[in-house]
Amino acid sequence: MKLDLIPATASTTEALHISADWRGEDISLYLDRCQVDTPQDLVAATWRAVEQRRAHIGTVVDFGAGDGRFARQGRYASYLGYEIDWNRCASDTLPANARIVHRCAFSDVVENADLAIGNPPFVRNQDLPAGWRQKVAEQLEARSGVALSGLANAWQYFFLLSLLSVSEDGLCAIVIPYEWVSRPSAARLRDYIRSKGWNVDVYRIADATFGGVLTTSAITIVDKRDATGRWRYFADDGSGGFQQLLSESGSACGHIPYRSARSTSPDSARAVRGLSPGSQQIFTLTEAQRARYGLAVEQDVIRCVTSLRHFPPTSGELDEEAFDRHFRYAGQRCWLLNVADEPSARLHAYLDSIDDDAQQATSTCRERPVWWKFKMPPVPDLLVATSFKGPIPKICSNSIGARAVGGVAGIYGLTVEATQAFMTAVSDLDIRDRIVAHANGLRKIEINQLNALLAEVR
Ligand SMILES: C[S@@+](CC[C@H](N)C(=O)[O-])C[C@H]1O[C@@H](n2cnc3c(N)ncnc32)[C@H](O)[C@@H]1O
Repeated sequence: MKLDLIPATASTTEALHISADWRGEDISLYLDRCQVDTPQDLVAATWRAVEQRRAHIGTVVDFGAGDGRFARQGRYASYLGYEIDWNRCASDTLPANARIVHRCAFSDVVENADLAIGNPPFVRNQDLPAGWRQKVAEQLEARSGVALSGLANAWQYFFLLSLLSVSEDGLCAIVIPYEWVSRPSAARLRDYIRSKGWNVDVYRIADATFGGVLTTSAITIVDKRDATGRWRYFADDGSGGFQQLLSESGSACGHIPYRSARSTSPDSARAVRGLSPGSQQIFTLTEAQRARYGLAVEQDVIRCVTSLRHFPPTSGELDEEAFDRHFRYAGQRCWLLNVADEPSARLHAYLDSIDDDAQQATSTCRERPVWWKFKMPPVPDLLVATSFKGPIPKICSNSIGARAVGGVAGIYGLTVEATQAFMTAVSDLDIRDRIVAHANGLRKIEINQLNALLAEVR
């Protein structure tokens, strides 16, 4: 690992080696989202997990070193950190055997480190500039043969990079979202690790660890030495220790499987994720906003549900009265812009009132030929809140014909009798221990888990 320090004057764009299509505001948005400091006790717990497995560590690499806090704990012969934001590096206070370089983590080929440690950036795939993502994806695929999912978030690229940068006898100890153990978007990474037979231990951390970040984190240890293909899962027991879990979800039967709707017949029931129109702030309105812009119901806006949080769990049916009470006159975003036909003069006036920056703020809007023109989804038979705290997600039948938006998924293709039968069957279930925890006690059911549930209970 021989590297020269890039001068501190290099801009972040240069350090990232990215194309000009990554604009200044994209970089600051990216940095804003990914600069979360690891609490010192979590850094210490990660080092403890390393020291339980190795008596001596030679070379250490940290991709996304921040202020170098992983360098300040632990014992090693030499540490090399990569950090793109030079303002974050406090290199003058590093231990003498540690250094941080102002470079993109993907700008060098590091091989044969004893340990890759750290907390890589948590940035959603849609917030990663296409130029950068494509470049690092190609580089990683060339090195490993693994084509990460297009839905992979930033930490997956850093995780794979860490795996490739340690020796055949090496160790990888990184803090990443716990959901990697089950999410379909991380399947290729899991398959790759399984194909190598490396041992994996995942320690789930209490939700409060990262105040502002809505995710459940985990110290993930991948040990290439003595590979027996063993995977273990642990949860923070609240008193500084960890308790081994029976499976990744904690239950004896594991998590609800993923089943694509394509594996069932075309006319049978299927779950589909809620519409992502671009920005809910622009495309979904409250009743007060609708009235202010004089937008006509049915013509300019149509009913939608963006959240079932305020909908009573026992209601069961979303009819006109429930819609008015819990959504329309409760200040909820419940009107979706009706852009299926040519907009009326009123709707045009509303769209014209959105300033250029807001129009271009999401990649969904930027990539459309006409920034506001999305394809209107059909009306689902059932609405399902994909995030939930109770025994099952909130589900209601949709007699008012509302569109499912955002975290509210739709179930389509059910007859009236099947709708009733499904709701009755589901109401007896408790699936909490069959879904991997997401954050703050919230669980999130994936669309293809809903499809599996549909197949299971019907
Ligand atoms: C979650 S923070 C962790 C910082 C520090 N290691 C800690 O644990 O507190 C991730 C860090 O990765 C840096 N980073 C993001 N993308 C990077 C890249 N392509 N190359 C190098 N560093 C990067 C960010 O600036 C940020 O400091």
